[in-house]
Amino acid sequence: MSEADGSAGADGSGGSGGSADELLAWRKEFPSLEQCVHLISHSLGATPRRAGEHLAEFARLWSEKSITAWEEWIPEIDRAAARIGRLLGAPAGTVTMNQNVSTIEAGLASALEYTPARNKVVYSDMNFPSVSYVWKSEERRGARVEIVASDGVGVSTEKLLAAIDEQTVVVPISHVLFRSSFIKDVAPIVKRAHEVGALVILDTYQSLGTLPLDVVALGVDFVCGGSVKWLCGGPGAAYLYVREDLIQRFSPRVTGWFAHEHPFAFTMPEQQYAPGIARYLGGTTAIAPLYQARAGVEIIGEIGVERIRHKSLRQTARLIAMVDEREFTLRSPRAAERRGGTVVMDFHGAGKVAAELNRRRFFCDHRPGAGIRVSPHFYTKDEELELFVAELDAIRAGR
Ligand SMILES: Cc1ncc(COP(=O)(O)O)c(C=O)c1O
Repeated sequence: MSEADGSAGADGSGGSGGSADELLAWRKEFPSLEQCVHLISHSLGATPRRAGEHLAEFARLWSEKSITAWEEWIPEIDRAAARIGRLLGAPAGTVTMNQNVSTIEAGLASALEYTPARNKVVYSDMNFPSVSYVWKSEERRGARVEIVASDGVGVSTEKLLAAIDEQTVVVPISHVLFRSSFIKDVAPIVKRAHEVGALVILDTYQSLGTLPLDVVALGVDFVCGGSVKWLCGGPGAAYLYVREDLIQRFSPRVTGWFAHEHPFAFTMPEQQYAPGIARYLGGTTAIAPLYQARAGVEIIGEIGVERIRHKSLRQTARLIAMVDEREFTLRSPRAAERRGGTVVMDFHGAGKVAAELNRRRFFCDHRPGAGIRVSPHFYTKDEELELFVAELDAIRAGR
C-alpha cells in the first residue's frame, strides 16, 4: 500500500507535497476496499467493518430480549440523531431520524399552508428529482412551484435570490448538487428567504461527511440528508434538523404514533404532538438502519470533516488535472470553493465506459447529461486515482 500523498493542488487544494496520508490508516475499518477501487462515495459509501457487528447487536437484542428490546431500540433513535447532530453542529434535541429524504420533505410539506398571497416553492432544476416530485405534488394543495434554471453545472445565486419573494413559502434546495457537485452559496439564500418570511430546507445529502457544516451559523430552518453516501451508513437512516426555535411551530399532517407526546398511552382519536423534535417522527421507526449507520458516522466524527475536506480538495484537483490532460469535458466546478467531493467527466461513449469500469470493479457511475461521477473519500489512495484513469484509458483504447 502506497501512502504517498501525491501532487499538491495549485488551486487552494492544500496539497501537502509528499507527506504520509494519515487518513489511510482508516482503511483497515473498510476491508472491502481491498477488493475493488471504490470511487462511488457520492452514491454509496464503503462498508465499515463494524456495520456488520452493530447489525448483529441489533439482532441479538431482538432474539435475547424479545419485546423488551424496545428499551434499547427507542433510545437508539436519539443516539443516532445526536451522532449526526455533532457533524451538523446542531444543538442537542434538534435532530431526529427517519428513513429517507423524500419522506422527511413530504412530512415538512404537510406542515405548511398555502394561501393565494403566499404559495410559492422555489428551487433549482438541479435538485434531486425525488425531492422535486414531493414539492410538485404539493401543487395539488395550492402550492406553485418555481424552478430556477441552472447552467448544467451550477445555479446562479442571483437568479435564486430574484425568485424568492413575499409570495414564497419555502425554498427546499440542495447544498451540494448531486449531478455536478456544485456547492451552493447558502448564506445569502437564507438571508433573502428570511427577509421575505420564507423558510429554507437544506438537503445536505451530498455535503455532510465531506464538507464541514455548521447549521446554526448558516441560520437555516431545516436540514435533511441520509446515510447512504458520504456517511458510509447504507440505506435507511436519514436525518432531520429543525432550528430550535421552530420545533414547536409545526405539526406535520404526515404523522404517526412515534410523534405523540405519550405514544404508549394509545390515546384516541387525534394526535397529541410531542413537544420536542420527536413530533417530526411518523409511525414505527426502522431501527436496524440506525445500528447499520452508526459506524460510518462515528468514524467520520473521529476523523473530523475538516481533514476529510482537505484531502478531498487535493484528490479532486488531481482528478481534474487528469481530465484536462485527456481533454475530457469537466462537468463539475473547477474552483475549490465551489466544488464538492465529486469530479464529473464527460466524453463520447462515457456511459459504456462507466459500465465496463464497474464490471472490472472500478466503481463509479454515469448520469445522463452529466458524465462519469468519480468520488475519492478519506479512505482513497492516490494511486487508486491513477489506476482508475489508467483503466479508463485502456477501455477507451479497446483493451
Ligand atoms: C441531494 C440528494 N438528496 C436526496 C437523495 C435521496 O433521496 P431519498 O433519501 O429520498 O432517497 C439523494 C440521492 O440519492 C441526493 O443526492
